[in-house]
Amino acid sequence: MRILSGIQPSGKLHLGNYFGMMQPALELQQRGEAFLFIANYHALTSVSDPAALRQGTLDVALDFLACGLDPARTVFYRQSDVPEVNELAWLLSTVTPMSLLEKCHSYKDKIAKGLAPSHGLFAYPVLMAADILIVQSNVVPVGRDQKQHVEVTRDIAIKFNNQFGEVFTIPEPSIRDSVAVVPGLDGQKMSKSYGNTVEIFGAAKEVKTKIMRVVTDSKGLAEPKDPDTCNVFALFKLFANEAEREALAARYRAGGLGYGDAKKALLEKFEAHFGPLRAKREELARNLDYVEGVLRSGAERARAEATQTLKKARQAVGLE
Ligand code: ADP
Ligand code: TRP
Repeated sequence: MRILSGIQPSGKLHLGNYFGMMQPALELQQRGEAFLFIANYHALTSVSDPAALRQGTLDVALDFLACGLDPARTVFYRQSDVPEVNELAWLLSTVTPMSLLEKCHSYKDKIAKGLAPSHGLFAYPVLMAADILIVQSNVVPVGRDQKQHVEVTRDIAIKFNNQFGEVFTIPEPSIRDSVAVVPGLDGQKMSKSYGNTVEIFGAAKEVKTKIMRVVTDSKGLAEPKDPDTCNVFALFKLFANEAEREALAARYRAGGLGYGDAKKALLEKFEAHFGPLRAKREELARNLDYVEGVLRSGAERARAEATQTLKKARQAVGLE
């Protein structure tokens, strides 16, 4: 089984990214041949500062390696080091109906949030299809908001195969139902564009301030509380095992647990989980030659695959 996912280097990674995409992708690296890349071409649709793009790209590389990406198992690379995806994106764009792209929520949402409606932003799903199809991926682990893009990829691949012969594997999205949407501090979906994130490698003090700000209802200390409608509990659940979840839920229902205590329990979980990873990240940041080496050798492996697929596609359409 071949697995591929990517993430844009367009902001500091947060708990939504971690539980929605990073952790599932890192777990899947045990189950098959994994490809993971930093989508810096895609990020150009929203990042216009070159220094920020460079820094963001390095940050994502450090984040993934610190969180357990194993370069011996996972082909880890920068999208722009595999320029073949652009040629494939062009071939795919010629079979992509405009109506398919016009339906995409992500494009409409980004415009609504004030991004300039560029051609790159509109064609974003076609480049994403090229990322996925160029390595013949079977499974694409993503958060729920990316599901439509994987469906568009399937439609494009099916159309291309019908027209030109069997060139591409048809991929499936893989979405973890239990963490389909991680809530932010205000209870909306956690997203950098809503300013409601907890960054996974934020400074300890900043993380604490943010967790203390998670919105709750105004029930008093003694009152019984409903864990299932509480944002603090929703975040706690992501870190906890079944017994820990049950234990805290019982304390909610019994009354006598203040939201401040629940937030402390969440903060402890956060620190226990990310504290050691933060130390590992600091060590990697002192070893940038190693990080660069990982990305270069990942790109070489990805390119070997990409070149083969592109050749098949070029032959199929009559360029060769
Ligand atoms: P953001 O919304 O902060 O801009 P991205 O759109 O860059 O995040 O998402 C990167 C990856 O993380 C995608 O696979 C996306 O589905 C996942 N993801 C982002 N936010 C969440 C969330 N709140 N819950 C679950 N998954 C998320
Ligand atoms: N669009 C994805 C996001 O914003 C990033 C991405 C680009 C991607 N290409 C991909 C994800 C291919 C999975 C597969 O999160």
